[in-house]
Amino acid sequence: MYSISSENTPKLSGEILVPGDKSISHRALILGSMVNGRIEIKNLLESEDVIATANALKTLGVTIKKFKNKWEICGQGIGSFSGSNYLLNMGNSGTAARLLMGVVAGSDVEATFTGDESLSKRPMRRVILPLLKTGAIFKEPDKDTLPITLRGNKIPLPLTYQSPVSSAQIKSCILLSGLSSLGKTTVIEPSLSRDHTERMLKFLGANVETTQLQDMSWKISVQGLPELKPLNINVPSDPSSAAFPIVSAIITPNSKIKVKNICVNKLRMGLFETLVEMGANIEVSNKREINGELIADISSSSSDLKGVKVPKSRVPSMIDEFPILSIAAAKASGNTVMEGVEELRYKETDRIKAMCDGLQKAGVETIDDKDIMVVKGKGSNSCIGGGVEIHSKLDHRIAMSFLSLGLTSKKPIIVNDTETINSSFPNFLGVMNELGARLKYVN
Ligand code: S3P
Repeated sequence: MYSISSENTPKLSGEILVPGDKSISHRALILGSMVNGRIEIKNLLESEDVIATANALKTLGVTIKKFKNKWEICGQGIGSFSGSNYLLNMGNSGTAARLLMGVVAGSDVEATFTGDESLSKRPMRRVILPLLKTGAIFKEPDKDTLPITLRGNKIPLPLTYQSPVSSAQIKSCILLSGLSSLGKTTVIEPSLSRDHTERMLKFLGANVETTQLQDMSWKISVQGLPELKPLNINVPSDPSSAAFPIVSAIITPNSKIKVKNICVNKLRMGLFETLVEMGANIEVSNKREINGELIADISSSSSDLKGVKVPKSRVPSMIDEFPILSIAAAKASGNTVMEGVEELRYKETDRIKAMCDGLQKAGVETIDDKDIMVVKGKGSNSCIGGGVEIHSKLDHRIAMSFLSLGLTSKKPIIVNDTETINSSFPNFLGVMNELGARLKYVN
């Protein structure tokens, strides 16, 4: 169990790359195993979450190999998985668990899904309910948490499902299961969640339609049994990882940094929009497209921030960024009010509670009230006390957020159980120290 300490830093500067996007990496492996032929993936995120997906696909019989800086997958076509008694350990990753349940539900496969302590507490009924309607059989259909055993169908029933929450994991699970059905599978969600599955499916040749309905909800459909072309995939860098150095530079004096080749899909940009409203110096340059995704470079520099109200409608586009937004909010003048954030309670840990508890410990006042979180900012010239130890709660984004706060606190902040950072940003410490931070392992 490793702890990392973060201490007051005079400045951050330089140009960096952060690792590949986690969501796109999971999907590249999963859809790569369903194309007809061999593909190469570059810049795949080699983090524990993504490796959990790769290992599960290997267990299901897919040939996946790494050569120097690229990964090779021999796709077997849609509906090619078969067999029973598979044990698929998803580690810490909700995305791996929920997306692969969709794959298994659409295959002639019986498998048991397990996960670590954090994942074993996270809700799975949100995907069990729709998958039951496609004909998947669950050993204990009333269960909500892993371990879960299910038997899928080689030809699942096509489904139209109205999801109560906007969740890319629920949407992708259903669309993936629908790939092997004979008809059209449709998901309706209240607002549009990240659309990497839809974009990659389109890029590989599937017929996907996205339309906004009169009540402002979104309808996403995929036609079953598409012929997926074996096209190589280049994974852009992860905006959710880039968020940590970008916010760190904004809250650290005398700083200016650039993070290159970031996925700037507009359904992932909520944090950056919010930071600009708060008064942050952020510049997006060099926009271009790779395999159906928009990418760009993002620069940020030290800024005087003011508190803002984040509307509920923006939550899906920054669902993973609230922990690091709360750190920026702690250094802003005035209150930052985050509304409609209840989904944060179902992430790797209850992120509202983890951020509020940790910030209070570090000397920042917060309010934790059902689906609202408030951070009472201390202003950019104030110095936050620090001198505390924060537990990661096995949540990578909680760990990295408090290490970012330590860059501007009076006394160092120590974060315990930091191995969890490997689930999304394995070289976080190296990248931050390259910019001038002084993060170090402590006993
Ligand atoms: C993800 C979707 C998000 C996000 C997660 C990755 C994905 O979850 O929190 O880290 O890759 O589909 P929900 O959209 O289910 O809330």
